Amino acid sequence: MSEPILEVSGVAKTFVLHLRGGARLPVVSGAGFELFAGECVALGGPSGAGKSSLLKMVYGNYRVDQGAILVRDGDETVDVAHAAPRRLIRLRETAMGYVSQFLRVIPRVSALDVVAEPLIHDGVDREEALAKARALLARLNLPERLWSLPPATFSGGEQQRVNIARGLIAHRPLLLMDEPTASLDAANRAVVIGLIEEKKRAGVAILGIFHDAEVREAVCDRIIDVTEFAKAA
Ligand SMILES: Nc1ncnc2c1ncn2[C@@H]1O[C@H](COP(=O)(O)OP(=O)(O)OP(=O)(O)O)[C@@H](O)[C@H]1O
Ligand SMILES: [Mg+2]
Repeated sequence: MSEPILEVSGVAKTFVLHLRGGARLPVVSGAGFELFAGECVALGGPSGAGKSSLLKMVYGNYRVDQGAILVRDGDETVDVAHAAPRRLIRLRETAMGYVSQFLRVIPRVSALDVVAEPLIHDGVDREEALAKARALLARLNLPERLWSLPPATFSGGEQQRVNIARGLIAHRPLLLMDEPTASLDAANRAVVIGLIEEKKRAGVAILGIFHDAEVREAVCDRIIDVTEFAKAA
């Protein structure tokens, strides 16, 4: 069997609330799983189980107290739990993409530029990147009149589609998604299902949180129950 794209082992984290007299809030302990190329795995469990926290640990947004989070980057393997900040930034530029739940809007930058930016950053010719961004926004049914506008005033579902397009436009072997379809109607959910299936066929490993059962059943190969990691915490 081939090497995993992502290998999480023995990960534990407790939030310490310094503004609340140092109150301790254990969230996961002994978290371990592997993710291989071309598969889509959902983090499952009830609200508050630690799904988003675990995703943020994999992306390096939350520190972990114990354990390792190994992400393959070409011939190298990087431990997100112990990587230097610069290495983590480089890892995100080459190996790991993240579709957050909400778009972080950059003032005055048009939707088209927001979407094309990761490709331009990869060194793709600007016109080619913009063409790809247009195609993706059209596929996600974002009205063309919005493409040249900054997404700040867009509706929740419009912003989410811009966010998905930005997250999917460039190739990253590992893709993390936090509820990518929460604000979408059925037609656009179907488009996102198609886009995720294409990523899987391209060998991308996807770890996500998919509250929508229809999307989850369509794209996910298995579910990791995060409450298993909470029991011990
Ligand atoms: N930055 C933080 N500081 C303190 N506690 C936090 C922090 N982030 C999350 N938590 C706590 O960790 C627990 C898990 O939260 P998390 O957001 O990971 O849950 P979730 O499984 O994604 O839930 P949901 O399905 O509602 O999104 C919660 O009790 C939450 O209050
Ligand atoms: Mg969450």
